[in-house]
Amino acid sequence: MLVEQTRAEALYERVRTVIPPLEWPAFADDIEAILELKRARNAVILAHNYQTPEIFHCVSDIVGDSLSLAREAMEVEADTIVLAGVHFMAETAKLLNPGKTVLIPDERAGCSLAESITANDVRALRERYPGVPVVTYVNTSAAVKAESDICCTSGNARAVIESLGVPRVIMIPDEFLAQNVARETGVEIITWKGHCEVHELFDRADIAELREAYPGVTVLAHPECPPEVVEVSDFAGSTAAMSAYVSERKPARVALITECSMSDNVAVDHPDVEFVRPCNLCPHMKRITLAGIRKALEENRYEVTVAPELAVRARRAVERMLAVR
Ligand code: 13P
Ligand code: SF4
Repeated sequence: MLVEQTRAEALYERVRTVIPPLEWPAFADDIEAILELKRARNAVILAHNYQTPEIFHCVSDIVGDSLSLAREAMEVEADTIVLAGVHFMAETAKLLNPGKTVLIPDERAGCSLAESITANDVRALRERYPGVPVVTYVNTSAAVKAESDICCTSGNARAVIESLGVPRVIMIPDEFLAQNVARETGVEIITWKGHCEVHELFDRADIAELREAYPGVTVLAHPECPPEVVEVSDFAGSTAAMSAYVSERKPARVALITECSMSDNVAVDHPDVEFVRPCNLCPHMKRITLAGIRKALEENRYEVTVAPELAVRARRAVERMLAVR
């Protein structure tokens, strides 16, 4: 019993700057149970950068952006992967490591981008623009990936587009990411009207207000933000790239223009950096809780599977992306 308390106490030391002491007792019991269940079930937890700090810092084995979670999922040797993130991430993990049991703690953890487009839509685009390659953001269903030539994430979109060596591509479904990448690459991009419901809420005026209220602030934006936001930011990159920017450049004062938990998670390792927190919550990411992860491991729920015929084609698009350096 004494050992158990020490483990929870040690974990709290790590997150005490972002979790108030009053909230901690509500987490400690689930954390202990999850650590024990992971051992008993030979399971690992992969968590996205938008997960809350008690998940991100206290029970996860691997954390990162969509690209690194995909790469890491492929290497997992444990029997079970619990994906603390959204459904498309769990599906990608299953595609890349099909022999493992992949669980998502809440089946409703979707994504407005994934919802914005269907496999039929992609087939219609191909008919309309014959011969133009289809680059698909990983924030999509396996069915949409299966209709695509290659996938990309926010971390490698530019490299993926440039690897194709063509003047024109179809890039779906995130209109803003496509517009931001088009500006960087000079490639003509046909896009789709999908948006991230979290990042589309930011606008140019938010950044102007921020700069006025917090002089000297360094503004880092996710490329799912509208181009007008990226234009007036100091840097745009994936969640992992934003985190690396803070680690490497150590700005005195920084604003991460993205989902709310991101700042908390990065702040834990950077007590000397002032984080200004103008953020929006992702309701899908927030469906994942410690209690849900615990239940997932206790009851082996909710298992994510992909039909074999679909998986072959979707995997090809994801693997082509992973081959781009
Ligand atoms: P990255 O972590 O790949 O930058 O993506 C952010 C995102 O939208 C995940 O939902
Ligand atoms: Fe989808 Fe946006 Fe939420 Fe990411 S933050 S899961 S892109 S809705």
